[in-house]
Amino acid sequence: MCDIVKYTITFFRPIYLRSKMMKHSNLLLFFSVLAVFSFSCEREAHLDRVASPDNNVAVSFFLSEEGQPGYLVRYKDHLLVDSSYLGFDFKDQPALGKGLNLVQSSHTSTDETWELPWGEQRLVHNRFQELKVELQEKDLPNRTWNIYFRAYDDGIAFRHEFPAQPGVDTVVIMDEHSSFVLTGDHTTWWIPGDWDIYEHLYNTTKFSEIDALSKRNHPNLAQTYIPENAVNTPVTMRTAEGLHLSFHEANLTDYAGMTLKVDPDKLTMTSELVGSDRLGHKVVRSLPFQTPWRTIQIAPRAADLIASNLILNLNEPNELGDVSWFQPQKYMGIWWEMHLGKSSWDMASGKHGATTANAKRFIDFAAANNIGGILVEGWNTGWEHWIGFEDREGVFDFVTPYPDYDLESVVVYAAEKGVSMIMHHETSSAPRTYEQQLDTAFALMQRLGIHTVKTGYVGKIIPKGEYHHGQWMVNHYRKVLRTAAKYQVAVNAHEPIKDTGIRRTLPNAISREGLRGQEFNSWSVEGGNPPEHLPIVAFTRMLAGPIDFTPGVFDLKLSQKYLDPANLPAKKPQVNTTLAHQLGLYVVIYSPVQMACDLIEHYEGHPAFQFIREVGVDWEQTKVLDGAVGDYVAIARQERGSLNWFLGAITDENKRDISLSFDFLDTGKAYEATIYEDAPDADWNTNPGAYNIRKERVNKDSMLNFTLAPGGGLAISLKPV
Ligand code: NOJ
Ligand code: CA
Repeated sequence: MCDIVKYTITFFRPIYLRSKMMKHSNLLLFFSVLAVFSFSCEREAHLDRVASPDNNVAVSFFLSEEGQPGYLVRYKDHLLVDSSYLGFDFKDQPALGKGLNLVQSSHTSTDETWELPWGEQRLVHNRFQELKVELQEKDLPNRTWNIYFRAYDDGIAFRHEFPAQPGVDTVVIMDEHSSFVLTGDHTTWWIPGDWDIYEHLYNTTKFSEIDALSKRNHPNLAQTYIPENAVNTPVTMRTAEGLHLSFHEANLTDYAGMTLKVDPDKLTMTSELVGSDRLGHKVVRSLPFQTPWRTIQIAPRAADLIASNLILNLNEPNELGDVSWFQPQKYMGIWWEMHLGKSSWDMASGKHGATTANAKRFIDFAAANNIGGILVEGWNTGWEHWIGFEDREGVFDFVTPYPDYDLESVVVYAAEKGVSMIMHHETSSAPRTYEQQLDTAFALMQRLGIHTVKTGYVGKIIPKGEYHHGQWMVNHYRKVLRTAAKYQVAVNAHEPIKDTGIRRTLPNAISREGLRGQEFNSWSVEGGNPPEHLPIVAFTRMLAGPIDFTPGVFDLKLSQKYLDPANLPAKKPQVNTTLAHQLGLYVVIYSPVQMACDLIEHYEGHPAFQFIREVGVDWEQTKVLDGAVGDYVAIARQERGSLNWFLGAITDENKRDISLSFDFLDTGKAYEATIYEDAPDADWNTNPGAYNIRKERVNKDSMLNFTLAPGGGLAISLKPV
């Protein structure tokens, strides 16, 4: 941008500030004057601007010479997003983009604090300034289009609005063209654009080197790479100056998910909505409606990206009211043993995992070890017809147990022991079958007093031509959440729609997968997730929301005793972290349901299991102590309703010395720290199980040094003495 625009903004600042006080008034005169003076070298009329409450982040709105709306983003003195244009293509209607006039613009501001029923913290501060621009086509059909821009201290967001207008009831969107023009060749952490699945390994490259077309070597049952060089969101970047940016969307409601097309030469990303081949469009909506928010989180320190609440703040307040029927909990279950091949989901194999006796064994162990819930997969009939079948409609019924699983007696047994059961609904991506049975399935859960369901959407969506992230499925996932809420059921979705912060509005959206989870370590042909996986995930996928990663493998080399040697993948599966790294994940990765996934026999009598017994799952506050994307991260969280703190740290394949300050602790209190750390000779590959436990007295002034092994980690529980 050329200097004349900067001068114009400075010169007109007093007028601008006064105009902000004329709430919702027509500011046309002011803008036309401003427009004349602020013609930039790109021949754009800069019409209005909104800055964050701390004044560090600012968005400017402009119309090009051809009347196309655009924006740019500044952080302090840096231009972070250069002139970026907006527009839409429709079916049976001319494109919307050029020939717009600014009718009016207005400013509002919000400063509120709201409460999460459970979460990374109890109170969330929501403070922003908003600019609304109302546009209209100069020529027929004179359509109207509003754009909202918000500036927060931790980033910006914008969304489109199509107001009610004469002559148009419904729009069929063929694509949205929201663009993001970067101002440098940033280091970027990305996964390839995929309309179905987010279960990919992250790549670290310069933006100009993003080549999603060549990174399609991660086999999965449902991947649908888009035929373009594109990435999924959140996509995180670091600028040469050390600023951190992450691009995503918030409040994805009745719309298609957004992937971002990459133009490596122009350093530009443009929205590419997930389509429906079946229906032949991307979005159909009747007017009026608003799109999801397009978001950019901005942080000087990588750690501050994790602390950002931008995505949550861009969602609507809690619509469910009192949700105390769900309580955050750790859980175990009949699950990892299937992924290891020790048992199976189906009964025909002769090694059915979900038996009454096995469930009771888990309930006993959970009751004795401060684990609140038990998940049982493979309990209902249909699994013989699960993977690899084209015709999956009507296979699962979600109410009929296999004959060797006495659902009712297991539930009664669990209740007697103070353990709650977690229901499992694998839909095998036949959402119509699931929708037909939703009420029946949730009514059964309500009658049995089961308040949590893990859902699954393995495979390609039926009907063919729909994708996990298209509008049709966005609406399916939402219908499941809303129906579940009627029966006091909370949902932990696997193969989910990506998280866009909807848990603020519907807190029963407790957690989800949407990444390469622990399960890949047991059967991935590539030998599992590399040590850097979670140090990247913490700054990418986790910015979207809670993750059901299912940590806690202690038998890291997987002993292999349950695998058929004839069926071993080329690369022998193992978990590519140390044991202390697995413990650190209970604090680093946030989820109100946190699994201890390993087999009972691997936990029994193991001293390090004490950390899993003790660690909290619901937090009063969170302090992200330090971190670098893809390298390491350290987080401390205070348990809700207690004075205990827990600290977790993880590193990539590099050994790392870290110094941690305990200044987050209460003044004047001493704490006993129980430290679970990598042994000096620990290593994710050669010696993953080597750890030490020691105790230390600490207080607010303590500063301690730790060494994280290659692929290692750290877990500390802190209790006031
Ligand atoms: C995939 C899920 O991610 C996994 O956790 C589950 O065990 C299987 N689907 C079966 O539903
Ligand atoms: Ca690294």
